[in-house]
Amino acid sequence: MPDRSRAEMSFDDFDEARNPGPEQCEMDQIIELAMSRRGFLAGTLAAGTAITLPGASATKALAKPILDFVPVIANSKDTITLPNSYDWHIVAKWGEPMWSDGTPFDHTTRGTGAGQERAFGDNNDGMSFFSRDGRNLLAVNNEYVNRRIIYGNRQSKKPENADDVRKGKAGHGVSIIEISQKGGQWSIIKDAPLNRRITADTPMTITGPAAGHDLLKTATDPSGKHCLGTWNNCANGQTPWGTYLTCEENFNGYFSTSDEFYEPTPEMKRYGIGKRDWGYGWAKYDERFDLAKDPNECNRAGFVVEIDPFNPASTPKKRTALGRFKHENAEVVVADNGHIVVYMGDDERGEFLYRFISKGKYVKDGDNTSLLEQGTLYVAKFNDDQTGSWLALTPETTGMASQAEICIHTRLAASKVGATTMDRPEWVAAHPNRAEVYCSLTNNKNRGKKPNRGGDATPVGGPNPRAKNKYGQIVRWRPIGSDHTAAGFDWDLFVMAGNPVVHNDDRKGSANITPDNMFNSPDGLGFDSNGLLWIMTDGKSSNKGDFAGMGNNQMLIGDPDSGEIKRFMVGPKQCEVTGLTWSPDKRTVFVGIQHPGDKGDGHFPQGSDSTPRSCIIAITRKDGGLIG
Ligand code: FEO
Ligand code: CA
Ligand code: CA
Repeated sequence: MPDRSRAEMSFDDFDEARNPGPEQCEMDQIIELAMSRRGFLAGTLAAGTAITLPGASATKALAKPILDFVPVIANSKDTITLPNSYDWHIVAKWGEPMWSDGTPFDHTTRGTGAGQERAFGDNNDGMSFFSRDGRNLLAVNNEYVNRRIIYGNRQSKKPENADDVRKGKAGHGVSIIEISQKGGQWSIIKDAPLNRRITADTPMTITGPAAGHDLLKTATDPSGKHCLGTWNNCANGQTPWGTYLTCEENFNGYFSTSDEFYEPTPEMKRYGIGKRDWGYGWAKYDERFDLAKDPNECNRAGFVVEIDPFNPASTPKKRTALGRFKHENAEVVVADNGHIVVYMGDDERGEFLYRFISKGKYVKDGDNTSLLEQGTLYVAKFNDDQTGSWLALTPETTGMASQAEICIHTRLAASKVGATTMDRPEWVAAHPNRAEVYCSLTNNKNRGKKPNRGGDATPVGGPNPRAKNKYGQIVRWRPIGSDHTAAGFDWDLFVMAGNPVVHNDDRKGSANITPDNMFNSPDGLGFDSNGLLWIMTDGKSSNKGDFAGMGNNQMLIGDPDSGEIKRFMVGPKQCEVTGLTWSPDKRTVFVGIQHPGDKGDGHFPQGSDSTPRSCIIAITRKDGGLIG
């Protein structure tokens, strides 16, 4: 498949084209569940697609100050659009040197490997703000590189030599930048002692149940405890003990093999690992990415990695206890009983939603550095009656040989216990003031049509109520007894996205979707300190057909109490809006703009004929007031 077509496909479309999943669903199961869906619709989707929301109706006026803005109108401009009372500026952009010995970004060559190693990475995604002893840091994921842009100086638009691959590997990982605010504008402090680049080649320690397991031993690491690098770091988490969690998502697309007779194992196939890479070309210059030469290397990716951003010499730790899948983010909550709970989505069509509960308890100002090393992993089962339960993944429940194997082949473990196949779980966000958790289910064109890669049916119903789901929804749940470690929960849908102008069936969305706030593919989620839910989208920006009137990808703010949703920001052309964090004084919100202009139309942020660049923007109020 030519790389051009790859560049136009999403990660999972490419996975499916390269390595098609099973074709047939268990029809009996689908029909059975479609029948029970009628009950669900009667209870929660009465009056067309209106969903039952707790508290007031969706139209109730709000008293919350941040929602007191004039919502912005959807548009297809190549810039940031905000309500009039807000300003924005650029904080950091791809290729910007973090040290004075770096190389200024070159719009023609798009830089070298050495230059990229000293510069802010590409495609910034999840990020967290850290503040300590007067130092302010952003830890930022650099999810992947836009081959058509980073290699835009090559006719082929793909890596052609070893230095191109070095540049690509260095564009991935995490950038830790010290920032300061001068004249109201935040920017990178060049040469700051805490500035750090973590890339696909940075040494890491493997911890937890899978550390040292045979499946993690490679030619260069017979211990199975020391690996190199992190890549495709999607969203993130932040612990109360001051560490950063970076989550490895589509790690599979970097492995390939030059051996045409090599046959990937069924376990590899479940994770979308196949013979052809996605156009990064790493296996050609680094044998650990060649499946035939080092078949266990791929088992060392797909984890959550914990980083101490205040110690640039520290070794990042892969936390195998949190499972191996296509991690989106890691939402950390301290349960009332002191255990650490981490909620995590596995972003692929028909994959699952997970929860980790630490064995140990959090101690304020104590040593919490090993809390993510041991615990129990659970997967969610949603019932159509709006209840649900967490199913433990243990050797007893799964029949698998060891916890280590469960932590390596987590998807297979979850399939064995009958977890609910979901519409691509993206970010999870926990309400700051009550035990209530939200997860974006971004879309799933295979819902009701094709099983997941493991052959699990994807019945229409429960929290995934629409076949061939184009627009996505946000599910939320409340743990029984407000205890995040409880076995059960109640759930409902906070919103079903849709287009009420184009459609009059369930594709019009829930009652809190109107022609003025419609959007598609909710992805990033985060709560501000007022308990308002910020929603970022990564969907179609064609503004045509099913998506007419939605404009570019955007950011909206929702009120969990009333269900009201208002559009706060529209991003530039072809971007995805992803990454959200606040300054401690809540006067700045930092937002990520990823892959603007990646399909050839758009030059954000520098305009004219400049190379489009992923970047972080800071949003402030013109009156200097609070913004969340
Ligand atoms: Fe990297 Fe699921 O988004
Ligand atoms: Ca995402
Ligand atoms: Ca997405």
